[in-house]
Amino acid sequence: MFLLKKLNNQGDKSKSNHPPSPPKLPIIGNLHQLGSLPHRSLRNLANEYGPVMLMRFGSKPTLIISSADTALEVMKTQDLNFCTRPTLVGTKRLSYNFRDFAFTPYGDYWKDMRKICVIELFSSKRVQSTVFVRAEEVSDLMKNIAKSAPSPINLTEIFFSLTNNITSRVTFGKSYKGKNFDIAKFVETINEAMDMLASFSATDFFPYVGWIIDVLTGFNTRLEKCFNEFDGLYQQVIDEHLDPDRKKPDHEDIIDILLGISRNETGEIRLTSSHIKGLLMNVFIGGIDTSAVTMVWVMAELIKKPEAMKKIQEEIRNCVGKKGKVEASDINQLQYFRMVVKETFRLHPPGVFLLPRECRKHCKINGYDIYPKTRVLVNAWAIGRSSEHWENPEEFAPERFMDTSIDYIGQDFELLPFGSGRRGCPGINMGMATVDLGLANLLYCFNWELPNEKDINMDEVASLTVHKKIPLILLPTKYIEPI
Ligand code: HEM
Repeated sequence: MFLLKKLNNQGDKSKSNHPPSPPKLPIIGNLHQLGSLPHRSLRNLANEYGPVMLMRFGSKPTLIISSADTALEVMKTQDLNFCTRPTLVGTKRLSYNFRDFAFTPYGDYWKDMRKICVIELFSSKRVQSTVFVRAEEVSDLMKNIAKSAPSPINLTEIFFSLTNNITSRVTFGKSYKGKNFDIAKFVETINEAMDMLASFSATDFFPYVGWIIDVLTGFNTRLEKCFNEFDGLYQQVIDEHLDPDRKKPDHEDIIDILLGISRNETGEIRLTSSHIKGLLMNVFIGGIDTSAVTMVWVMAELIKKPEAMKKIQEEIRNCVGKKGKVEASDINQLQYFRMVVKETFRLHPPGVFLLPRECRKHCKINGYDIYPKTRVLVNAWAIGRSSEHWENPEEFAPERFMDTSIDYIGQDFELLPFGSGRRGCPGINMGMATVDLGLANLLYCFNWELPNEKDINMDEVASLTVHKKIPLILLPTKYIEPI
């Protein structure tokens, strides 16, 4: 019976209609075709082989999805067949030791953690309750820039520290600042973790022999060290929150919320400190880099297109007047601002391939047979630049969103910066609240120009997200005294 079920699930592969595949080399398969910017290389191959393309990275069959129609199949129509994640070794030590749910296979544990995220941690009500954190951090940043203006500002650095400060405060609480927690070490550990998650380990592609390479290259030792550092830092924060002498904070932070759930013995979900650490991992790895990268690309595109810069600044300044800051409640009125953010997400979705999925059950996409355990990458970057869905796709033209309802929340498959379906990003409200407030204030308080160069370098570098290769350094001049 079990065998029959298994055979049925696998289908009869001899009669299969496999998706088209570029030629492979022995052992490495298609790995040599990835290049340094895989989203671009795979888009070029998809132009030749089609939007459903089967490749092999080492020993791992991987399906590359490169059109809105096929993304809709994978993430909506057949979401249940594709809503699990593959077991990647690079993430295994960091994420599975922490039972980080972003990389957890579909199942009860993932469902419980996701419920906590969606209902307790990142709901719009919860995001609203931390509006004061973002307002204070953004205001401090504007005042600091005003003090140093007109000296050049490294916006890449500033955006990372803004998203990091906001995330740390929302998670650990204001009262946490100043304790003996080594924040510099924490930031260093986050950077190292992102580096590790971005680099593929040999075992990911060659499960039976790759581990030898991972031992010899020191990859495993690096992972172990990074895991232990996070574990220690998180434990320290949890212990300090549990200290009976701790003054009750005015506002609950994420650790307070999670400890509250863990104390509720009758609750549906039993949370242990290891679950809490896993969720913290999601907050820091999921939220900091993605939001900062988005802000960098918005400013880079605007500097490149002065008409758009002028238009967005006029809109913000007309709306806000002379009050000295943009508040979260002003942002809904900014239509052109929203179009600029959408257009930036179209050209620069930070996670160009979203997060990898894995097929759970034999099924068909575009008439092709897809088998369980096939990894699936959705090339959101290629879809955003496809001439099938977009006119003049390489051009930064926010006006294209004027008369459409297309949005980035996961309902329109030609624009997928946050993914979609069961595995779509649960942190969208939190991420966008930071991106919106930071950018709107920066554009309101200052005028911006390039230091010397006539044109801006827009080269990319691929890491966990796709960054601007050269840091964005711009000159601010004050338009209004920030308050
Ligand atoms: C501009 C900001 C952000 C962008 C562009 C972004 C993008 C994404 C994408 C593309 C995915 C994968 C979706 C899929 O597979 O369909 C994802 C998943 C996820 N994101 Fe975000 N994200 C952002 C902010 C955040 C924030 C602020 C948090 C948390 C504080 C967060 C937490 C997560 C988690 C936990 C997952 C995994 C969900 C799952 O597997 O069930 N993200 N995000």
